[in-house]
Amino acid sequence: MDRDLYGRALAAAEFLRTKTKHRPRIAVILGSGLGGLAESIEDADVIPYNDIPGFPRSSVAGHAARMVIGELCGRAVAIMQGRAHYYEGYSMGEVAFPVFALRLFGVEEIIITNACGGINEEFAPGDLMLITDHINLTGANPLIGPNDERFGTRFPDMTEVYDRKLISAAEHAADLHGIGLKKGVYAFFPGPCYETAAEIRAYKALGADAVGMSTVPEATAACYLGMRVAGIACITNMATGIARNKHSHSEVLAAADAAGERLGQLISALVTGIEE
Ligand code: HPA
Repeated sequence: MDRDLYGRALAAAEFLRTKTKHRPRIAVILGSGLGGLAESIEDADVIPYNDIPGFPRSSVAGHAARMVIGELCGRAVAIMQGRAHYYEGYSMGEVAFPVFALRLFGVEEIIITNACGGINEEFAPGDLMLITDHINLTGANPLIGPNDERFGTRFPDMTEVYDRKLISAAEHAADLHGIGLKKGVYAFFPGPCYETAAEIRAYKALGADAVGMSTVPEATAACYLGMRVAGIACITNMATGIARNKHSHSEVLAAADAAGERLGQLISALVTGIEE
């Protein structure tokens, strides 16, 4: 975290205020291949990340790299279509920067999605998993550096990164719409290579149900900032050693694409259920 993070996040938030009349309290980050929901936003203002001061740019296939701000089911929302990743060479703080900006823009709830590998053998590609907690043993953390008390406390509590009420609301919404939903612990790996089979065995023993290269930077920052977080992981493949075949990014994108509609329904239902 750099010294003038607050000033830079404020500049980004003020820039967003000049680009849209909407004042969303809810934000959604859409992961690899999951950007489809952005198409259903009404009265949308589309702002490329390139234009937003301080925003990192994503260079990954399947990420559109733009903010879509408008209405979803009658609620103002800010949708991040694509994100930057630690493996692209950004620091964890840079990856999480949009969350700091969204907080100063007025966002209080954030739904973070991703494509990930399934470790839990009861899962199958195409499943959606509600994240109940995460494991980050990488040593990298978006809050390393000087702390600005205007954002949050030096030693933030992480007992409930993923808000229990949002977890219940998502389960309720899934039931109502007949959407199958798994629950589990997401382990963060820096990438860009997929994990080895031994790493997956180790993380399975540690209690991980799924593994991926995103979400944790943003969720950690959002929790620190006092935001309510929901995490929804799309299992696009089984993890190394559990899957019989080797991984490929095109396989991940195809599976995410196939799950996109269900994910969109779930997010819409969740957004509708969040109290005004
Ligand atoms: N591992 C890490 N990240 C991923 C995977 C995986 O198996 N699938 C999609 N993102």
